[in-house]
Amino acid sequence: MTEQIESIKKEISDFVIESEETLESFRLEFISRNGKVQKMFAGMGAVPKEQKAAVGKQMNEVKILAKSRFDEAKLKLESEQQTSFDAKDDITIPADPNYTGSFHPLTQALDEIKSIFYRLGFNISDGPELEDDFHNFTALNFPADHPARDMQDTFFIRKSDDRDEQDLVLRTHTSPVQIRLMKEQSPPVRSIMPGRVYRNEAVTAKSYFQFNQVEGLYVDENVTMGELIETLVTFSRLMYGSDVRYRVRPSFFPFTEPSIEMDVWWNNEKGGQWLEILGAGMVDPNVLEAVGLDPERYSGYAFGMGVDRIAMLRYGIDDIRLLYDNDIRFLSQFPS
Ligand code: PHE
Repeated sequence: MTEQIESIKKEISDFVIESEETLESFRLEFISRNGKVQKMFAGMGAVPKEQKAAVGKQMNEVKILAKSRFDEAKLKLESEQQTSFDAKDDITIPADPNYTGSFHPLTQALDEIKSIFYRLGFNISDGPELEDDFHNFTALNFPADHPARDMQDTFFIRKSDDRDEQDLVLRTHTSPVQIRLMKEQSPPVRSIMPGRVYRNEAVTAKSYFQFNQVEGLYVDENVTMGELIETLVTFSRLMYGSDVRYRVRPSFFPFTEPSIEMDVWWNNEKGGQWLEILGAGMVDPNVLEAVGLDPERYSGYAFGMGVDRIAMLRYGIDDIRLLYDNDIRFLSQFPS
């Protein structure tokens, strides 16, 4: 037995390992499950009891020898591979800088809007993109079958096959979040509500079936139109620069009375033009009633602005579809 062990030991020591292939042959011959070391241990049964301890020790030494020869040879082969680079490679040339990714231009524009309203004392709320008719329209003072519902082409989602059950809608604006917020929290409420909205519109460079809005709402006792305009002007100055030219026009929304729209002057190659940046107004008393607030006691203002428009102006993007293609060649132009 001892001789057999010695001869395996010698074989292991003499085995020449100089390549991946011979390393693998070594492994198969000695270390694998059917290898010689394993077979050697199988012979243990035939060893007389009083010799078992000594023979076992001898066998273990052989096993350790095989393992360490394998490990050493493997390490040596690996390190040889790493250093064998082509002599004409210049390893002192700096590597290409990695493109580490950046925030989407919409996220960057939204972050700016958020930080401005945060400074003005607003917190952030949100609501679902899949809405019901009540929150998207009825509670916002859109009467049933009123043409104002057509101002916003709506995607309807069938809830079930039951014809009597009302369809859900993909929200057409962030204003339904106002309703949820006022039902959840008693005044004072001072919050902005960013989110994605959907309209069933033809896709062009200027319009898309989805875009992003930021809704604003302030409800308390004695909230005035003067405060609304002051807030919007402050926002415009912080967003577009202190020399921004702006104007406020009367407008109409079912959920605000009176309603306004705000434009800022945009300089371009053709000399410049007014661009609408938001809709706003005093929360209509019917809306306050719909959420159970007393319009004699509380008043509020609301506004809604488009994030896509702001991002497009800010970064000189002339096609809204670029914002949704997620093409890395486009996105990498907006480092953050
Ligand atoms: N929800 C309106 C829109 O999407 C914008 C708006 C919000 C107007 C709040 C007034 C007050 O067109």
